[in-house]
Amino acid sequence: MNILILGSGGRESAFAWKVAQSAHCDKLFIAPGNAGTTQYGTNVNIKVTDFEGIKALVLKEDINLVLVGPEEPLVKGVHDFFLADEQLKNIPVVGPQQEGAQLEGSKDFSKQFMERHNIPTAAYRTFTKDTLQDGLTYLATAGLPVVLKADGLAAGKGVLICLTLEEAQTELTAMLADAKFGEASSRVVVEQFLTGIELSVFVMTDGNSYKILPEAKDYKRIGEGDTGLNTGGMGSISPVPFADAAYMKKVEERVITPTIEGLKKDGIPYKGFIFIGLMNSNGEPWVIEYNCRMGDPETESVMRRIDSDFVDLLLGVAEGNLNEKEIIISPKTAATVVMVAGGYPGEYLKNKVITGTENVRDSIVFHAGTAIDGNDVITTGGRVLAITTVQDDMFSALQQATADASRIYYDGMYFRKDIGFDLL
Ligand code: AMP
Ligand code: GLY
Repeated sequence: MNILILGSGGRESAFAWKVAQSAHCDKLFIAPGNAGTTQYGTNVNIKVTDFEGIKALVLKEDINLVLVGPEEPLVKGVHDFFLADEQLKNIPVVGPQQEGAQLEGSKDFSKQFMERHNIPTAAYRTFTKDTLQDGLTYLATAGLPVVLKADGLAAGKGVLICLTLEEAQTELTAMLADAKFGEASSRVVVEQFLTGIELSVFVMTDGNSYKILPEAKDYKRIGEGDTGLNTGGMGSISPVPFADAAYMKKVEERVITPTIEGLKKDGIPYKGFIFIGLMNSNGEPWVIEYNCRMGDPETESVMRRIDSDFVDLLLGVAEGNLNEKEIIISPKTAATVVMVAGGYPGEYLKNKVITGTENVRDSIVFHAGTAIDGNDVITTGGRVLAITTVQDDMFSALQQATADASRIYYDGMYFRKDIGFDLL
């Protein structure tokens, strides 16, 4: 069968690498892809939100399955677009319809969902421009720090952790009265601050049954020791030692099962991934957020621990027989080190020639922000490459990924050398 992956980051590179190995896959297309995805399939220069362009490609190339990487096309309704189109309606899309994508697209929707289905999450209130005064009063009674979340998608920038009441009140006013994050902050969730260690849990569902994919830990800050500005993610590790069988049983019973059952009770169809961002507080899981897609750079580590045919699982999602499929997970450790552009996550350098990838010894170089320029591969994005290795133990995996990253060069390159070492 012919498969189309939508997206262009490290996540989509890892998907493409895995899908290309499947016995089910004849031709693979990636739209728009990057310099690295050309190793696994054919790039087509169409934006992930250009639904008409995607339709033309699907019909021209006789695509039989679409795997959606990022949240934006899902929240904008790419799956609904397929279902509403006579020519596309029988072509399965892995990724929820607009309503299910609201789990990520609206923080207020996801908080209400968790409340309704008794899923553990931080206490919250939602405010709008009209209730700003109530919000300011509420903040005075809420403990500190307090978390403010723009309701809608804000390119990963919509969450603020405020340490003082003054800061919280100033920011709430900026979000609601001055549209700090545009339409995304026309509603703001004010939430209790949770302490603990974060964990990314991934579930694949056909809307009825589910499979739990390998869990991972993501490292969000730019600096070593988890310091400095927030980024899209600087590295990941899987498995995560504290997420042992007893812990994952709690996660399944308290979070995963009620989430899948909650979607069913609410009549929300859902075929795709659910990424559950958890806070582990003294051994208890609390949901920080849902995403309607896989994580990046977690996917790079997760794909390398799935030993079964990934397309077979995607077909289970598409055809509603996921319960009949088998998922084989490697007991080994996968580690991913993300190499970023100089200046990232602020204004960053672009168009720098990448060299040395041929010297990498025992990792896969997943591309993210790269493009082909004549005979060169150049940097185009903030997150440039994701170096992923699989080894028998965590220490070797961390060491190998870091060593391999240091074999690559471009002007201004930077990566963290401490990914995962906090867990050893
Ligand atoms: P989100 O966009 O919801 O993932 O939030 C971004 C990041 O903010 C999370 O990954 C956490 O590190 C942090 N965060 C969000 N909500 C909370 C909370 N209630 N308590 C502590 N940290 C939080
Ligand atoms: N790694 C976090 C995310 O993909 O949102």
